Amino acid sequence: MSQAPSRTVVVLAAGEGKRMKSATPKMLQPLLGRTLLGHVLATSAAIKTDRTVVVVGHKADEITAFLAEVAPEATPVLQAQQNGTGHAVRIALESTPDLTGTVVVLSGDVPLLRPETLEMLLATHERAGAAATVLSAEVEVPGGLGRIVRGADGGLERIVEAKDASDEERRIREINSGIYAFDAVLLREALGKLSTDNAQGEEYLTDVFGILAAQGHRVAIEVAESWVETLGCNDRAELAQLRVLMRDRVNGAWMRSGVLLLDPATTWIDVTATLEPDAVVDQNSQILGSSSVATGAVVGPDTTLIDTTVAAGATVLRTHAIGASVGPSASVGPFSFLRPGTRLAAKSKIGGFVEAKNAELGEGAKVPHLTYVGDATIGAKANIGAGTIFANYDGVRKSHTTVGEAAFVGSDSVLVAPVEIGPGAYVAAGSAVTKDVPAGSLGVTRAQQRNIEGWTVRKRPGTVSAAAAEAADITSDQE
Ligand code: UD1
Ligand code: CA
Repeated sequence: MSQAPSRTVVVLAAGEGKRMKSATPKMLQPLLGRTLLGHVLATSAAIKTDRTVVVVGHKADEITAFLAEVAPEATPVLQAQQNGTGHAVRIALESTPDLTGTVVVLSGDVPLLRPETLEMLLATHERAGAAATVLSAEVEVPGGLGRIVRGADGGLERIVEAKDASDEERRIREINSGIYAFDAVLLREALGKLSTDNAQGEEYLTDVFGILAAQGHRVAIEVAESWVETLGCNDRAELAQLRVLMRDRVNGAWMRSGVLLLDPATTWIDVTATLEPDAVVDQNSQILGSSSVATGAVVGPDTTLIDTTVAAGATVLRTHAIGASVGPSASVGPFSFLRPGTRLAAKSKIGGFVEAKNAELGEGAKVPHLTYVGDATIGAKANIGAGTIFANYDGVRKSHTTVGEAAFVGSDSVLVAPVEIGPGAYVAAGSAVTKDVPAGSLGVTRAQQRNIEGWTVRKRPGTVSAAAAEAADITSDQE
């Protein structure tokens, strides 16, 4: 058996992307959990390749730093001046002098390309023994894209840029996706013959096809099943269009795998998030970053999960959660905010209008209403009354509060950290607790209540309250 030819991927990512009008380079614009370039690198990583070269230029430092973090196997190559796509590939090849085999060229701003389609392009290229193969697509509005010019035999004659095309050529609706496979040796030769004698004064990579075809080399075309995969991105309106297409693709895949999305049009799931069959996501919800939703869990409506795990059977209703973990059959919301380090054990509860940060709730523990829980450990079956504040910050330091198993904290209490409420202890409602409450004790810090009889009628005569007081007095006299 002969060894498979080597495969090198060259990703073009040096362009400026002026029309984005953003301080962030186009290649690093976000799209459902990855940057544009990140999607292209993920597609490239999903096929068998021997090396990846990324041509960087505009904001090269930022892109190189991104590569070091996200795709350390990729080698950045600097194209100091962006003199065209042909020039970019020429520079990439100059960094790998003895290259043979297949060179795959991808655009850093074409993020919807699937690995399956790239494999089809490569299969066509290798089966045909072609010098160069282009991925084309039929589109309704070809606009500024390069056109595929076919000869009398239906084969590829050349690729012409819209700006250099005749009126007749501009009517062609088969476009160049900017995704190609080349024979490395023939590509290098052809790149040496490029000129800048065109409308944009650039070295066009597309001219390689005409050069190779004229020399009698075989050039091939793979027509993409869907034009969607070849869509590039030049401005924010196009980015929004890509986001919708990517959302529909991601949501379609999850629904086919058994996830119930009640309103897929308003459900946004990053490509990095995961869901199990029979997970339910209600409308207007976002499952972002490394979030996961297990079977039988219900998330939403109106919920955002960022890097948050939701275990089986849990409910998260109208909630914003980041860096949290929600245990099996636990419940959260409505209208709550889970911040990093919130860990909810099985069957625990965070109710409405609760903010939690770096807080651990034991099994069955409950924080049902209007509470701030910062830097705390709450034991199993403990109950935190409405309006309790875990005062974790003294203006200088953050401190920890521990509430023991099955302890009961009365409503409107302040637990001033560091402090410990022992197992089975009670805190009387309205207490400001600054000292530990031992196990099984009642902690009370408020003043004794005294009632001043007849006060309303004497001090607020003529008010509705005084009238009510007098009426109550008559009633009680009659009893
Ligand atoms: C290119 C193709 C066009 C095709 C379209 C598909 C050429 C001449 N034209 O046009 O036929 O329909 O892509 O999207 O190739 N880049 C560099 N260095 C450069 C120039 C560009 O790295 O000097 C990178 C860009 O960052 C981008 C990619 O190459 O990722 C394509 O460049 P772009 O300027 O967008 O090419 P188009 O004019 O759109
Ligand atoms: Ca483009």
